[in-house]
Parts: sequence; structure tokens; C-alpha cells
Amino acid sequence: MSARVIVIGNEKGGSGKSTIAIHVAVALIKSGQAVATIDLDTRQRSFTRLVENRRAWARHLQRDFGIPEHFCFGQLEYPSAEEEAAGCKVLEETVETLAGRYDVVVIDTPGHDDYLSRTAHALADTLITPLNDSFVDLDVLGTVHPETFHITGTSHYADMVEEARGRRRVAHHGTIDWIVLRNRLSALGSRNKRLVGDGLQQLSHRLQFRCVDGLAERVIFREFFPRGLTAVDDLDELTLGARPTMSHVSARLEMLKLITTIGLGNAVTAGEIADGRQAVA
Ligand SMILES: Nc1ncnc2c1ncn2[C@@H]1O[C@H](COP(=O)(O)OP(=O)(O)OP(=O)(O)O)[C@@H](O)[C@H]1O
Ligand SMILES: [Mg+2]
Repeated sequence: MSARVIVIGNEKGGSGKSTIAIHVAVALIKSGQAVATIDLDTRQRSFTRLVENRRAWARHLQRDFGIPEHFCFGQLEYPSAEEEAAGCKVLEETVETLAGRYDVVVIDTPGHDDYLSRTAHALADTLITPLNDSFVDLDVLGTVHPETFHITGTSHYADMVEEARGRRRVAHHGTIDWIVLRNRLSALGSRNKRLVGDGLQQLSHRLQFRCVDGLAERVIFREFFPRGLTAVDDLDELTLGARPTMSHVSARLEMLKLITTIGLGNAVTAGEIADGRQAVA
């Protein structure tokens, strides 16, 4: 396989997987890379809907936004062992074919365990796990002591990633660069924010992931869906359908910094910052 395979995963629902998936895909397209995307959440299809909405909005404006080549993967509700094995094989072959044609393949997974998601994790060069800033969300990675808040053990999603690492080592002789991305961080410091941060630091050593302070809680991320837009799209009134605000600029800079931090390209430049400021001036 030649392309980089980026999987967005977390067995906790609503952590920001599909939001991060479309942002990563669009940021990479904007940096000149050929990007294919796969949605494995066949029931919800948020990633697919984001791409469809983006395509429709671009057509409406008669503009070329940069749309990934998108695939939505179907899966059976109650598969037999043979059907599971066949589905995993088709996914592996699809990713391998796409990896020969594109620079990057971005895969969004559902917020629960299933056979295709497990296979996708084992194909990942980079695994991004967005995590809301709460002990309820941290619980999929590890357990904490109720008095001291120290980490007492690892949990089911972390164990699944460990298993995927093992599968990847054996089948592809590869490693997974695992990034846990804190999402929806409050602007204010709080005891919860500090304690969750401490817990993640402890877990990062035990589970071998990089912990990144990702995105703040921003209403703007929820407004993008109907047009399939992202914070890394052009900050002009025509594209956004509204005048850009400081919130757009902040979200854009935060996202570009994140892309750079996780090693997906050097997206933040002084020019970017100046462009953003000019757009709202
Ligand atoms: N940084 C953020 N600030 C504000 N809202 C956010 C942020 N990130 C995500 N959201 C919102 O949180 C909700 C869940 O996001 P998203 O659908 O991307 O999560 P998900 O992990 O893909 O969910 P699921 O597990 O159901 O597939 C959405 O309403 C999204 O707009
Ligand atoms: Mg989703």
C-alpha cells in the first residue's frame, strides 16, 4: 500500500469523529493531496451526508471546493462468521485498491464495535480518536480511582486498538500512530479539564498514544453540516453563505494548527493568519 490510511475511531458516540473526518479530508485536499474517503457508519451516514451536502452546495454555487472521492460501506446487521470474514476481505481489498490510486484514504467509523471497524483499525497508519472532555468519555480508554483519579486500568476501546496493533504488526508489518484528540474543550480552566488531562497523560504512556489538545467547544462546528463546509474552507461570504466572523477565523486557525501538530502537513503559515484576519476586517 502506498497511500497513508487515516482512521477516525472511538467507540463512544458523539465524540466528533465525522466532524474531524471531513475536516482532515478537506484540509488534505486543500494541501494538494488526492483524497479518498470511506464511511463505515452505514446506519447514521453522517460522513456521507457531509460529503453529499458539500457536493450539492458546490454545485449550487458553481464552485470547485475540493470534494473527496467517497465510498459508503454497507454491512449486515446479524452477519454469520463467513459473512463477516467476506465483508472484512472486501474492505481490505477496497482500501488496498484506493491506496494505489490516492495519496490518503480517510475512514470514518461508527461509535460502537463492529467487524468492519475492527478491520479498519488494523489498516490504520494514523488513528485519530476524538474525545470529549469528560470522565464518561475517558472511560472507553481507561478506568480511574474514585478518590485519587489515578488510572487503575485500561478499557474496551483501548484493548481493541491494542488488538488492531497486533493484527497490523503480523499482517502488514506496520505500526499505528495513535493520536487522542481532546475535543470540545471549554475556554475556561476547570478542575474537570485538569483531571481529565492528567488521566490522559498517564494513559498516553501506558497505551502509547499522543495526546493533543484539539478543538474548543465552538457553535460554528455545528453550523457547517447542511452545506458540508469546514473551518478550512475559504472564508468568503459566498462560500459560507454569510459574512465570516472571528469565530470562523479562530476555528480555522485551530484546525490548521491541529493538522500540523498531528503531522498531516504544514498548514499554518503567517499568510494564513493574515488571510483570516483580513476576511473578517
Ligand atoms: N468542537 C466542537 N464544538 C462544538 N460542537 C462540536 C464540536 N465537535 C463536534 N461537535 C458537534 O458534536 C456532535 C457530534 O459530532 P460528530 O457527529 O462529528 O460525532 P461522531 O463521533 O461522529 O458521532 P457518532 O458516534 O454518532 O458517529 C455534532 O452535533 C457536532 O456538530
Ligand atoms: Mg459519526
